[in-house]
Amino acid sequence: MDKIFLFGESIGDNNFIGREAEIKRLKANFTHGINTMLISPRRWGKTSLVKKVAKEVKSDKLKVVFMDIFWCRSEYDFYNVFAEAVLRQTASRFEEFVDTATSFLGRIVSRVALSPDPNSEISLSLGITPKTHTPEEILGLPERIAAKKKCHIVVCIDEFQQIGEFEKSLSVQKRMRTVWQHQQNTSYCLFGCKKHLLENIFQSRSNPFYKFGDIAPLDPIPIETWIPYITKGFAKENKKISEDFCKRICEIVKYNPSYVQQLSWLTLLNTDKEVTEDIFKRSVDDLIKENTQLFLQQTESLTSYQTNFLRALLDGVNKDFGIKEIRETYSLGTYSNIARIKAALTDKELIDFDTAGTFIADPVLELWLKKIL
Ligand SMILES: Nc1ncnc2c1ncn2[C@@H]1O[C@H](COP(=O)(O)OP(=O)(O)OP(=O)(O)O)[C@@H](O)[C@H]1O
Ligand SMILES: [Mg+2]
Repeated sequence: MDKIFLFGESIGDNNFIGREAEIKRLKANFTHGINTMLISPRRWGKTSLVKKVAKEVKSDKLKVVFMDIFWCRSEYDFYNVFAEAVLRQTASRFEEFVDTATSFLGRIVSRVALSPDPNSEISLSLGITPKTHTPEEILGLPERIAAKKKCHIVVCIDEFQQIGEFEKSLSVQKRMRTVWQHQQNTSYCLFGCKKHLLENIFQSRSNPFYKFGDIAPLDPIPIETWIPYITKGFAKENKKISEDFCKRICEIVKYNPSYVQQLSWLTLLNTDKEVTEDIFKRSVDDLIKENTQLFLQQTESLTSYQTNFLRALLDGVNKDFGIKEIRETYSLGTYSNIARIKAALTDKELIDFDTAGTFIADPVLELWLKKIL
């Protein structure tokens, strides 16, 4: 079904706008075998972007494998998902999958089991364990397939921050990098949410994935691109929205694309003919209400120091928290306490940093906090 506005999940062509520069850069990386890492705030459009680029560059000579490792809890969970995705998405038929699995993974094929539910996508249990396969065998799989099929393979791994949670994560990352960096016909696109975890994986000198490839930023979608999209959405329902209200929708959620789409949708619902000031305000309230349950969960275990720190941010203080005056005004405790507060709030993904300083990561959470604190 064609949806006018879509939010909260990765999106297809109908709702995808802008990102021309990012698409160009990713396409160039994918077609020239350059590894790519994408880092952005939550719900900023990473998955949608990679899926779109994958669809556009795919050919017999360039195969793109997409996997989501959100549910992987251990190194071998990852190898099972990795091997299945690589085998399945580089094969054009199920028989080819089985043949390739047999020739490259040997004994595994006897374990290939079809899902009992005939309506589900074929779900396979490859049963890869430390007893059956070494990590290197599995990590080397795409390269061997690429050589056999005389093609290039781009392996896209979503929710890549998950590897940071594996036991002995650094050793696992080292193994991955060691195998992957020597591959000639396979490249990688690694991305996910939890910005600070990914930044740590990709940008910290002591980490194996340091300088693994091109770190591509995701810029906000500009207002000129949003205005026609929002206006057209309203026109489909014979309703009107002025450029000014389009702008205010984007600005109040700080150009977070998911919230822009959600607020546009709520505003559309509240509008009979044309958006007014009152309708806009009511829609912002609805947006906050729809997210309140989530915000309550995110903030239920905050200490009073952490809450006080958020209060300071709401007042526009975004740096120099160590200064005595600021610590006293907001009851932030000792100088060394500041680092602890920041670390805890970063870990909960409630705050983020840019060149201007610290800020509340979620723009709608910020609106909610302004109401309740
Ligand atoms: N190019 C785009 N055009 C319009 N809307 C977009 C675009 N990219 C993302 N969005 C909006 O943002 C939402 C989230 O997109 P997506 O799931 O791709 O982001 P993500 O960064 O992968 O999120 P997460 O951090 O949860 O993994 C989409 O449902 C859509 O509302
Ligand atoms: Mg995503």
